Amino acid sequence: MLVAQISDIHASPDSPSLLAFERAIDWLKAFRPDALVLTGDLVDDGWQRGYRQIAESLQALDFPTYLLPGNGDDQSVMRAELAEVGKWAGTSGSMHFQAALNDATLVGVDVTVAGQSHGDIRPHLSWLKSRLADVATPFLLFMHQPPFGIGIEVLDQVGCRNADALLELLNAGGRPPLGILCGHVHRPVSSRVGLIALQTCGSLCPPNPLLLRDQADLAVLDASSFLVHEVRNDRLLSHVVSMQTLARA
Ligand SMILES: [Fe+2]
Repeated sequence: MLVAQISDIHASPDSPSLLAFERAIDWLKAFRPDALVLTGDLVDDGWQRGYRQIAESLQALDFPTYLLPGNGDDQSVMRAELAEVGKWAGTSGSMHFQAALNDATLVGVDVTVAGQSHGDIRPHLSWLKSRLADVATPFLLFMHQPPFGIGIEVLDQVGCRNADALLELLNAGGRPPLGILCGHVHRPVSSRVGLIALQTCGSLCPPNPLLLRDQADLAVLDASSFLVHEVRNDRLLSHVVSMQTLARA
């Protein structure tokens, strides 16, 4: 089973991010995954036309799409413009999703906190616990802010809080997710806690610099990217698909 993940488009009228998104979508039309998950920060400043264009691109796909908001999204505009393709668990409130596919279940938790850059899983643990009770297949857990540090302090300060409570819940049933798959940090980063793979997705907007230790003045060489996850024999394989840098529109 193949699940594509796109994150952090941050589309705005004066950036090439929407063009990058359309190129990624064209590639995915040929690649034909079983599903596509967008892990938030679709547009900047509630740009309504950007949401509408993303919705039109997603409506043209012949595989299902599942969407989480990021801290940069305007949830009411996003809900309105992407209602046809969002597949959220409820018609108001947090924009969670759950999808049972052939070989795996996808669970998306909206961990955003209104008006804040960081996320918080604690208000959503009871929803997640109730959903996981129904899951009979391996599952992938998606959220916008990662509940684990990536070693870049400025980004770790705005991660998802209360990760310990999340891990306690996930490990309690003896069937943790194959992976926790996030966005937000604009870089692909891989790690692991116990049996759970931890992975962030690169961004379609320009990547963040690799600010480890005090290397603040290093140039960014990284390309925009997205992920293709494969669930094979109860294992998760995550491939980075890099995109050539696009000229500013
Ligand atoms: Fe974000």
